[in-house]
Amino acid sequence: MLRRSSYRKDRSVSYVLNAENMISVKNITKNFGEKNVLNGLNLEIPRGETVVIMGRSGSGKSILLKIITGLISADSGEIWFDGTEISKLKTKKINVLRQKIGMLFQSAALFDSMTVAENVAFMLDQHTDYGNQEIRKIVDEKLELVDLEGVQELRPAELSGGMRKRVGLARALAFNPEVILYDEPTTGLDPVTCNEINQLIRDLHERLQVTSVVVTHDMHSAFSVATRMAMIHDGKQIAYGTPDEIINIDDPILQQFVLFGAPDQILNMENPILKEYLGREAELPPAKA
Ligand SMILES: Nc1ncnc2c1ncn2[C@@H]1O[C@H](COP(=O)(O)OP(=O)(O)OP(=O)(O)O)[C@@H](O)[C@H]1O
Ligand SMILES: [Mg+2]
Repeated sequence: MLRRSSYRKDRSVSYVLNAENMISVKNITKNFGEKNVLNGLNLEIPRGETVVIMGRSGSGKSILLKIITGLISADSGEIWFDGTEISKLKTKKINVLRQKIGMLFQSAALFDSMTVAENVAFMLDQHTDYGNQEIRKIVDEKLELVDLEGVQELRPAELSGGMRKRVGLARALAFNPEVILYDEPTTGLDPVTCNEINQLIRDLHERLQVTSVVVTHDMHSAFSVATRMAMIHDGKQIAYGTPDEIINIDDPILQQFVLFGAPDQILNMENPILKEYLGREAELPPAKA
C-alpha cells in the first residue's frame, strides 16, 4: 500500500517565510552551433532552500549549473546572485563571487595524479596565500564535514565512487560557500551509498545553513533532499513547486518523470493523477507473451 510520508516538510516550513532569492536565472538562452539547449529559461533559487532540478538527459542541467557558476557564458539572459547581476561584473569581482558557490561536478572531476588532500586544497593553493599548515587544517576540517577520515594521502583511483563524490564535495566546501551546486550527486552509486549522500546533503544544508541546488534524475534522492523542485524541458522550466505541489501537477511530461520514479512512500493513493494512471493501467490488455 502506498502511503504519504512526511519527507522534508518540517525543513521547508522554516525557509518559506524568507522569499528572497539567492539566485535568479532570467530568460537564459544557450546554443551550441545549431543546437538550442536553453531557450528562455527562468528559475528562482530562494535563499536557504534546497532546489532540485530535474530533466531528461541532455536537457541542459549541467550546462545551467556551469552558467550559474560562470564557467561558461549564456548567449542571452541574466544570472542574478544575491542581488547582483553577474554578467555586469568585472572578472575580479566574478572570481570573488565564484568563491561563494561550491560545485560538486557530475564526475567529481578529481585530479588523478594528486592525493585527496591536494585535490581538496587545490583552489586554496591557487587563490589564497594561506600557509601549508593553515591549508592542511582547512582540508582536514572539510574532509571531516563529509565524513571522511584518514584518506588524505590516498589517490582518487584508490577511492570508491561514494568516497570520490565526498572528496569532490569537500573541495567544493573549501571556501565556505553560501551556495552548493550538486550535479548528479548519487548517479552510479549503490542504494545504500545514495542514501548516505542524501543524508550528507541534508546535514550540510542544516549545519552550514547553505542554499543548495541539486541536479538529479534520481527521484528517491530528489524527494529526500528537496524543499522545491523544478523541471526543465525543451530549454524551459515547465514546472516549479514544493514536492507536494510537484506530485499534484497534471502535466504528462512531468508526471512521467516524477510520479513513476518517485519512491512508494511519498506517493499518496488519493493523488488524482496517480489514481487515474493506476485505473488506466488496470484497463490495459495483458501484455503479449
Ligand atoms: N561543449 C559543448 N559543445 C557542444 N554541445 C554541448 C557542449 N556541452 C553540452 N553540449 C550539449 O548540450 C546539451 C545539454 O548538455 P548537459 O550536459 O547540460 O545535459 P544534462 O541535462 O546535464 O544531461 P545528463 O542528464 O545526461 O547529464 C547536450 O545535448 C550536450 O550534448
Ligand atoms: Mg549533466
